[in-house]
Amino acid sequence: MPKPHFRPRRLRGTAEIRRMVRETKLSVDDFIYPLFVTHEAKAKKPIASMPGQFQLSIENLVKEVQEAKSLGIPAIMLFGIPKTKDSFGSDSYNEHGIIQQAVRAVKETVSGILVITDVCFCEYTDHGHCGVIKDQTVDNDVTLPLLAKQATSHAHAGADIVAPSGMLDGMVGAIRDGLDKAGFDKTPILSYAVKYASSFYGPFRDAAESAPKFGDRRTHQMDPANVIEALREAELDVKEGADMLMVKPALAFLDVIRRVKERFDLPLAAYNVSGEYSMVKAAAQNGWINEQAITLEILTSIKRAGADVILTYHAKDAAKWIS
Ligand code: PBG
Repeated sequence: MPKPHFRPRRLRGTAEIRRMVRETKLSVDDFIYPLFVTHEAKAKKPIASMPGQFQLSIENLVKEVQEAKSLGIPAIMLFGIPKTKDSFGSDSYNEHGIIQQAVRAVKETVSGILVITDVCFCEYTDHGHCGVIKDQTVDNDVTLPLLAKQATSHAHAGADIVAPSGMLDGMVGAIRDGLDKAGFDKTPILSYAVKYASSFYGPFRDAAESAPKFGDRRTHQMDPANVIEALREAELDVKEGADMLMVKPALAFLDVIRRVKERFDLPLAAYNVSGEYSMVKAAAQNGWINEQAITLEILTSIKRAGADVILTYHAKDAAKWIS
């Protein structure tokens, strides 16, 4: 038997050499930490399906953001749970709405961490859909000006970046136009450009109390079977003025992350969603997996696929593990 001439194992022999040739390095700079804020005073209500995550009162949210900042996490993504819901989701653009109050409180007390707001209606409407309903479906064009109104209201409260997640046609253009007209031409838009109608959002809908009361979101969110369509969606958002793009979920869509990254030169985010988090937590609690190793492997794979930024509920733990 001839001896092998090429020996890739030479570069795997020690931790030091593996470290030297490692291609993908996770950093705390990569993380956006999603948080849920509720109107209920003093709340720190555990979310049963997402161990370690809570619905937080504004006071507790501020504490959590301070902790995230001290761990070096550069940004949070905020989701609101309002006191009242109606058919238009009007709390979402109310000056004294839950998000507006939360953004103001965070901006007043914590500096040096970006506050990104999710711009959508599903948490604010009594029917749980992402816009105004007509004939049992979301009316796209009636909802657009309301999305612009919501995003502008977030910017007014002090949001650093707005992130529309409803997958409505023309949402980025409408929001850009609304922000510019209100004088927020410097506020960036992180578009959930490629968002699938995924079952991985289940735990989030408990957390944000945003499950649709009838039907589903398949008339606006994408079919998980499609990837060419993802490129069309991303292209439209680029043309409409998105500053950053997002693919969501992440783990079952790593190929989509790669395709979008190769085609477009905007910074790309990927959302490691609630169901992906819950599966890891459940298996870890049963002692079936090593939580730290699995989590870091997952986050590394999302980055390796092409994501520049990762939205993840693991942000605090991961920041501690890699520091
Ligand atoms: C919509 C929104 C959703 C998520 C983020 N923004 C839910 C949905 O589309 O039903 C899901 C996030 C997750 O599962 O972690 N506001």
